[in-house]
Amino acid sequence: MTPAVGQPQPQVLVVDAEPHIARLVALLLGDGHVVDAAADARRALERLQAVPYDVILVDLELPDGGVALVERLRTAAPDLAVVALAAAPTLQSAVAAMRHGAFDVLRKTVSGDELRAAIERAMRHGALAREVRRLRDEVDRARGLGEMVGESAPMRQLLALVERVAASDATVLILGESGTGKELLSRTLHRLGPRAERPFVAFDCSALAPSLLEAELFGHEKGAFTGAGRARRGLFREAHEGTIFLDEIGDIAPSVQNKLLRVLQEREIKPVGADHVVSIDVRIVAATNKDLKALVTAGEFREDLYWRLAVVPIQVPPLRERREDIPLLAGHILARRRGAAKTHSSGSAARYPTTLTPDALARLLAYHWPGNIRELENVLSRAAILCDGEKIRAQDLDLAGLSPAAPRSSRGSAAVALRGLGDGRTLKDVVDDAVHTVEKAALTHALDESGGSPARAAKLLGISRASVYNKMKEYGLVSGDGDRTP
Ligand SMILES: Nc1ncnc2c1ncn2[C@@H]1O[C@H](COP(=O)(O)OP(=O)(O)O)[C@@H](O)[C@H]1O
Ligand SMILES: [Mg+2]
Repeated sequence: MTPAVGQPQPQVLVVDAEPHIARLVALLLGDGHVVDAAADARRALERLQAVPYDVILVDLELPDGGVALVERLRTAAPDLAVVALAAAPTLQSAVAAMRHGAFDVLRKTVSGDELRAAIERAMRHGALAREVRRLRDEVDRARGLGEMVGESAPMRQLLALVERVAASDATVLILGESGTGKELLSRTLHRLGPRAERPFVAFDCSALAPSLLEAELFGHEKGAFTGAGRARRGLFREAHEGTIFLDEIGDIAPSVQNKLLRVLQEREIKPVGADHVVSIDVRIVAATNKDLKALVTAGEFREDLYWRLAVVPIQVPPLRERREDIPLLAGHILARRRGAAKTHSSGSAARYPTTLTPDALARLLAYHWPGNIRELENVLSRAAILCDGEKIRAQDLDLAGLSPAAPRSSRGSAAVALRGLGDGRTLKDVVDDAVHTVEKAALTHALDESGGSPARAAKLLGISRASVYNKMKEYGLVSGDGDRTP
């Protein structure tokens, strides 16, 4: 068989302690295939580093373990088509091989036709797996799940923490206001961790009544309750070896809290209506925009469950506490919109704005963002439709109003600061200045409004008292004894 022009010959690796098996395979496949041989697992993994094989044939009776090699190959190259070979495969060994990722199991007495057909099937399967991965990556990127953007000090700290925590298997509790990126963070934890190749299952716990929630999470037997016509595996089993993200965990009813505590303690679930338990292997990440500690104090959330979930608590700061990230986020969001528009329509991407005028950016910087990054996305999407040029202007932005504590003048002065580009100043310098101007004006204004009380100013600004103190120090609004200078 001569391969079509431009189509490379399939590269096959045969892993067998007996060198004549590789020669036999080469003979059976004939021209049009490149066949290499490796005598053991170590050499096979080495070869795999050097050559992008299409198919690897693994002898199940390898002295150092055929099934183990199948598993290692699949971990090393998840899209690789691995086919098991055996002189006399038993049902048991065949099942073990398939379970660890072999695509097919062949007898060594296979005919040339059968072998070629099997290899072709395995290659098609590998190509499909690659295609699925590519599409999944594309969807992830389009949905912005790829990157968490942020350069502010709080975000840099957060990202460093995320990287460290991802590598562990610890249960994580993510706290933060709506739209701050809790779900994105949970996906990032999964993607950067050892379970990345396994499923990520996200579920909003506030979406279902307690009885249904239980069945959804833990599965149920056939006929466990009215309407349960078929048995369900439940999300914990769907997420096997992966990560389950339990969103709005603060909303789960006490009965489900009890069950969940058991899952966290015993690492096993009991499907609704079943009389047996099933052990599970999942990483658990939970999130809530509620003050979960306060719910514990109020007796609405089990304290023991709280501590099981909050092994590693991660607090995501609201956008108004990291305004420095706004220009970067805005650029990121606009670029993503433009990218999505390019791939999904034939229309010219020129209609999609990529930048903002200094006035528009000043408005974004001065706003208090109660809906956080989700609100920023919405505001920019609407503005992009309204604006008629390359740039989004201030009048295109439909903001609910300025921060209650921000005086109108701060907007204007931020705009002035933003015009100071050039003279060797980078955009970052200019934005830092603008943020500085806006924050200082808002802080001064809030302190005036609240008669100089940092606590009340904090409330007015919607930031923590500690942040108010820090900012007061930063902007020289305190004297030595902690009082505000006139
Ligand atoms: N750091 C970030 N960088 C880029 N986009 C972000 C970031 N944080 C959040 N987003 C985007 O903002 C939107 C809201 O995030 P999400 O994770 O759903 O928030 P939450 O779960 O806290 O309500 C999503 O579209 C998300 O992709
Ligand atoms: Mg959310």
